[in-house]
Amino acid sequence: MSKKIGVIEGDGVGPEVVGWGVKTLEAVARGTDLSFQFVPAPVGGTCYIEGGKVLPETSLEVLRGCDAVLKGPMGRPDIEAGIVERDGILALRQLFGQYVNIRPVKLFRGLEAASPLKDKLLEQGVDFVIIRENSEGLYSRMGGLSESSATDINLFTERGVKRILKFAFEVADKRGKRLVSVDKANVLSASLFWRRKFEAMGEAYPDIQCSSQLVDSWCILVLQDPSPQRWDVIVTDNMFGDIISDEAAAIIGSLGMSPSANFCPSGVSMFEPVHGSAPDIAGQGIVNPLATILACAMMMRYSFDREDLAQKIESAVQGALDEGFRTKDICAGGPSCTTQEMGDAVLKHLN
Ligand code: IPM
Ligand code: MN
Repeated sequence: MSKKIGVIEGDGVGPEVVGWGVKTLEAVARGTDLSFQFVPAPVGGTCYIEGGKVLPETSLEVLRGCDAVLKGPMGRPDIEAGIVERDGILALRQLFGQYVNIRPVKLFRGLEAASPLKDKLLEQGVDFVIIRENSEGLYSRMGGLSESSATDINLFTERGVKRILKFAFEVADKRGKRLVSVDKANVLSASLFWRRKFEAMGEAYPDIQCSSQLVDSWCILVLQDPSPQRWDVIVTDNMFGDIISDEAAAIIGSLGMSPSANFCPSGVSMFEPVHGSAPDIAGQGIVNPLATILACAMMMRYSFDREDLAQKIESAVQGALDEGFRTKDICAGGPSCTTQEMGDAVLKHLN
């Protein structure tokens, strides 16, 4: 079975990490009935500089014909902030109906020293998943900016809220049957709307233990106890999901360890690292490729229903870490390795 994978290299460290993603996919497919055809689809800051468009129509056409998309980070310091984000990243998520953003937060064995939390707090491990609404809220791209004021419309629709909550309940049903909704219902009417829908849906899932947590309080509680006993599945809106997933990435050692799936249950999904284009370290060969490699594992799991291959990639990552490979972001002051050394170590475990 041949699958077409759209490849968006992105900007900054993008080409470096995406290159390792492609190698990972090739390696994991070897000897299976699955094979991949990679098709480049340039999107991002470099596209904008070279052709005046962040998301060229030709790339969009290519992506429409793909079975899944591997995306690198985008953004360049020489382009006004917001252009690439709005016309590239958010446009892709919205155009492809990727209303679910899945962000697993898992501490890999041996990375305790890279976490800012005390060892004692990490004894039980960290293993939860953030389900982030990925199409509306403050990211709806509605609002305006003038000299004297600015607005961003925090749009929550019944359809948008119900479908993400439903997805999260289903994930919770398959995992530990514990679901925490993160909101700001004491201030925002949008959050109150969300909370009411959450509580109503909870009645249809009597086996799932549901609770709501205010976002500010969640940010503290997760630092005091990040354990799997405390957190399993988190569901939240677009803006809060963006913020809390970065905090969660720090807990597990680095943004360089955080993959993400922009998931459309009935269409083309897009897999990417949570981190940005990191122009300060681009081209130096030191970026951590693991977030992108782990995003490829998510592609196996969510787009191709190959849990076996997903776990194979994740075990290979653990294997490379067990051997002591650490890029700079996770070396905790110890010796560090290059992108190439880390990538090679993962591939060795895959083969
Ligand atoms: C992320 C990123 C994006 C977001 C930006 C770059 C638009 O921070 O994927 O978390 O805010 O969603
Ligand atoms: Mn973010």
